[in-house]
Amino acid sequence: MRRIAQISDLHFGRTDPAVVEGLVRELNEDRPDLIIASGDFTMAARRVEYREAQHFLNRLPKPWIAVPGNHDISPFHLMQRFVRPFARYRRFIAADTQPTYQDDEIGVVCLNTVRTWAPERDWSQGKIHRWQIAGAEARLRTMPAHLFKIVVGHHPFMPPPWDEEARLVGRADKALAAFRRSGVGLTLAGHLHRHYARFAEADGAGPERVAVDRGSMQGGRGRLLAVQAGSATSTRLRGNEPNAYNRIRIEDGLATVTVRLWNGRHWQDAEQVSPRPGREPS
Ligand SMILES: [Fe+2]
Ligand SMILES: [Fe+2]
Repeated sequence: MRRIAQISDLHFGRTDPAVVEGLVRELNEDRPDLIIASGDFTMAARRVEYREAQHFLNRLPKPWIAVPGNHDISPFHLMQRFVRPFARYRRFIAADTQPTYQDDEIGVVCLNTVRTWAPERDWSQGKIHRWQIAGAEARLRTMPAHLFKIVVGHHPFMPPPWDEEARLVGRADKALAAFRRSGVGLTLAGHLHRHYARFAEADGAGPERVAVDRGSMQGGRGRLLAVQAGSATSTRLRGNEPNAYNRIRIEDGLATVTVRLWNGRHWQDAEQVSPRPGREPS
């Protein structure tokens, strides 16, 4: 059995200090086997923000792995953005922007979905290159068949159940097909600051109908569950959603995902994994 905490969209530079302290406390008490941080550590890749993020990570139990988000490259210094976009990320967070984690029960492949430039006005959207899909497949192929396989990126692989038209990471369909071929049971992402989970395959059952146990969903055993995390510590919240992170338990080939919500004083289980749509997400 493995216990994972997925934290996302921390956004140092605009965090609630009480939530940050509460999260450090909870993760140190809970001691998961692995913490996965799915990007947007900062607001604008400023040095002071990265220092805060680094201080936060230093206080977490190990091991943890991470990917960058679109907010982790500078929107101000274009030379920096184009020439060495991930220099600060590498210095303050981790040298590898696409790490792999493996133990004798789980295998985790991380993808850097951040783009420094795009042929459109909005450069915040992410994309997966063809070479990244091939590389992920190759990494997954080298892992023993019995491992529970997980892929992590910053940008979403599946839209929220209440907004089928939401923008996904570029090549999401091709990536999901490759992940399913490779036996992946779970994808983890963030970016939208909304938590939800749904199966990648069309099975006629809406996400609500597959909810099991109060507030939990299960993926694995041939079903790929795409899981999104809300923002763990940022005050940039969407809709009516409070700060959130995901608690994931991997056991007997199944991943059970439970959302933990900040209630103003401490973290507690969400009653439903899929929140009702609040005000329009952006
Ligand atoms: Fe974000
Ligand atoms: Fe983002």
